[in-house]
Amino acid sequence: MLKKKFVFATNNAHKLDEVRAILRDKVEILSMKDIDCRDDIPETADTLEGNALLKARYIYERYHMDCFADDTGLEVEALNGAPGVYSARYAGNTHNSEANMRKLLQELESKENRTARFRTVFALIINGKEHMFEGIVNGRIATEKHGIAGFGYDPLFIPDGFTQTFAEMGNEQKNRISHRALATEKLCRFLGK
Ligand code: IMP
Repeated sequence: MLKKKFVFATNNAHKLDEVRAILRDKVEILSMKDIDCRDDIPETADTLEGNALLKARYIYERYHMDCFADDTGLEVEALNGAPGVYSARYAGNTHNSEANMRKLLQELESKENRTARFRTVFALIINGKEHMFEGIVNGRIATEKHGIAGFGYDPLFIPDGFTQTFAEMGNEQKNRISHRALATEKLCRFLGK
């Protein structure tokens, strides 16, 4: 049987790989390159939900294809939920993960509470109707970077129940327990997969 196709509205190759690995034989995921879209979709909303919707609508309005988008934030308790929706630009507009992690470690230097969570919001548009799914993984921020797998803040995030960061445990394990995996599972359930 033909697999249902969705465009994943992201230019982040890591996110694309993760979601493709999680959805494997259930759904076919097209990248923005696959539909010949080279645009950098502006993320101007001040919530994860708003940005996920902006990205999905951008694709749906121009290409009229079923699609979804993800927006993710790292929410740190001692920083009142920062960097949150501004996680990509935490250390400035260059979207530099090394600089973002450096800033996060500095901000937490004097704090005992290192509790944090990753929150992903998926916006799905199917047959013109919008649906939202959320995935949350709780954990804590390590005192220094560990591991080289993954991307973004992965070298600093230790999920609850584990001693290794996402970057140490590697993609296979991350894809079983991550915020994005949880949101993807909800999307699958909605699609009856
Ligand atoms: P966005 O969802 O692409 O806007 O990502 C926001 C920020 O969080 C960027 O700095 C990403 O690198 C980072 N980020 C998103 N998802 C993850 C993840 O799964 N692990 C670590 N960092 C992530």
